[in-house]
Amino acid sequence: MLDRELMREAIKARELSHSPYSEFAVGAAVITKDGRVFHGANVENASYGLSMCAERIALYCAYMAGCKKNDLKAMAIVADTRRECSPCGACRQVIAELFPEDAPIYMGNLDGDIEETTIEDLLPNAFTEDDL
Ligand code: THU
Repeated sequence: MLDRELMREAIKARELSHSPYSEFAVGAAVITKDGRVFHGANVENASYGLSMCAERIALYCAYMAGCKKNDLKAMAIVADTRRECSPCGACRQVIAELFPEDAPIYMGNLDGDIEETTIEDLLPNAFTEDDL
């Protein structure tokens, strides 16, 4: 149930994507243990490398509202892809630091496919703050 509800929030967020260069709109949503939802969509720039992914925007919005890693319960990511949309490598690194290692990440597409995973599975043996 949570997967479908959070995916709906990610689909809503995706509508706000600013992606005139790639024309690839991505949406993300993060829900906290106390039920707050933070949204993200990719925001691109004419200087392409300055673009920001949906997942990181959702996570950063949660942190800007005062959330910490252990306040976060689940994340959903969606794009118009054949298979469920998987976070890029840069996002995996950020998720590994800012999101609980065993919390569900729902990857989806617009056909309604959803695959559940964790950052532990997506980025095993991550470089983290513990290594510094
Ligand atoms: N993108 C995301 O927002 N999240 C991902 O996990 C994959 C890629 C964005 C970045 C860029 O704006 C567009 O999708 C094409 O790569």
